[in-house]
Amino acid sequence: MKYLTFALTKGRLAQKTLALFEQQGITCEEMKDPNSRKLVFTNETLKLKFFLAKGPDVPTYVEYGAADIGVVGKDTIIEERRKVHEVLDLKFGACKMCICGKEEAKEFLQKRELIRVATKYPNIAKDYFYNKKHQTVEIIKMNGSIELAPIVGLSEVIVDIVETGSTLKENNLVVLEEIAPLSARMIVNPVSMRIENERIKKLVYDLRKLLA
Ligand code: PRP
Repeated sequence: MKYLTFALTKGRLAQKTLALFEQQGITCEEMKDPNSRKLVFTNETLKLKFFLAKGPDVPTYVEYGAADIGVVGKDTIIEERRKVHEVLDLKFGACKMCICGKEEAKEFLQKRELIRVATKYPNIAKDYFYNKKHQTVEIIKMNGSIELAPIVGLSEVIVDIVETGSTLKENNLVVLEEIAPLSARMIVNPVSMRIENERIKKLVYDLRKLLA
């Protein structure tokens, strides 16, 4: 039997994924050793391999077949536009992609003004402003702490993830428009989907039942 390889998103998403897999009897003891410097972990009995990657790289590993299966946020799937099959909503990591800014910025959206938009997600921002809102904007790609942008005057609004809303609240910013609901998703390489169809279908079926 061939190994099935999983690319998991480093951090909380991987922890939650592994906890869910454990409930399904899919364990990886090797991964629990905090002193381990290993990068790829194996479950020899079930013929599974796991590795951790940065979110935006997970769809890349899956598209190229370096991993058969990935677990990553829906935001990353939309942004990265890789050729992968999304097969399951794992429900955790739920949050929303929103346009946020100071209350006053609402007017710029209503009047479709040429504003600056700071974001880690330029493709999502471009698609929303250009194709859905038909508003010409200047998109500025940033790498984190996006809420800073409207506070220090880099941009009028941001396109970013809102989970609890506390970052916005503590910085006197508000949600101006909601773009899309997000959560962790399971993605599959299209070739693996055909070659390992039975194993993958069973895994998805079992996880779906567990989540229901
Ligand atoms: C994310 C997101 C927001 C924040 C939202 O940032 O970009 O800044 O979490 O969460 P909240 O609504 O619960 O306050 P993250 O912490 O991932 O780091 P980053 O700012 O470096 O992107």
